[in-house]
Amino acid sequence: METVKDPNVMREKIQKARAESRVVGFVPTMGFFHEGHLQLMRRARSECDIVVVSLFVNPTQFGAGEDFEDYPRDFERDKQMAEKEGVDFLFAPEVEDMYPEGFSTFVEVEGLSKIMCGKYRPGHFRGVATVVTKLFNIVPAHKAYFGQKDAQQLAIIRRMVTDLNIPIEIVGVVTVREPDGLAMSSRNIYLTPEERKAATILYRALKTAVEMIEKGEKDASIIREEMKKLISEEPLVSLEYIEICDNIYLKPLQALSGKVLIALAARVGKARLIDNMLFDLG
Ligand code: PAF
Repeated sequence: METVKDPNVMREKIQKARAESRVVGFVPTMGFFHEGHLQLMRRARSECDIVVVSLFVNPTQFGAGEDFEDYPRDFERDKQMAEKEGVDFLFAPEVEDMYPEGFSTFVEVEGLSKIMCGKYRPGHFRGVATVVTKLFNIVPAHKAYFGQKDAQQLAIIRRMVTDLNIPIEIVGVVTVREPDGLAMSSRNIYLTPEERKAATILYRALKTAVEMIEKGEKDASIIREEMKKLISEEPLVSLEYIEICDNIYLKPLQALSGKVLIALAARVGKARLIDNMLFDLG
């Protein structure tokens, strides 16, 4: 595995690989790898000739008072893990390489960026859309792999590549969970043992929704109320939102049909956690 820091060098390497008719897969990350990241790398490895992983904690997607400084980082550990997964290139630029002095161009996916997590993290998705556009220009891959856990991010990136004619296929990969159901996240490291236990209520609430749907419940407000009730029984968990919507436009649904996304966000101690489930009701 080769580590590359310079965006121009990175682009030249990918252009060369493409000129040699190699299929390039790209996994953008902020590092501190867990099994969820490794699944993205494995999927890319199984589908592509060349696999590139980027590791960049992107300052523009963190708001004032958020955890940019504290975000977990362990470059040497990440490097070893990526190498073990057979990654070809680890792109790890410095902040100055991505945002040189005078940087002033941002990508805004309107509408989708302002709802759900966007309400609680103003500017977050503008930062994500901007850095992902830059990364797609630096790593002109055929396919890019993102976790379904960040369902809103995935919807925004799909919208953005369609709207801006970016020639890349976006592949969503299912959420990897701990044995007790908690969705894997680099931010789980912030949880105390007590909070870690309490956080499982989020998965249990989603499971409750699945059970209700399986029994034939189609009314989104009844499902949402039941989930809220369950989560409110856990004092260490403070719910931000539960949204029941389609997975493309993220438009709230009343009666469930077609592809349905149930997404939620909550604060547990210092951590802000998100999770979701996606169903196809035909
Ligand atoms: O999902 C993430 O880790 C980040 O939001 C991403 C897509 C790498 C952009 O910084």
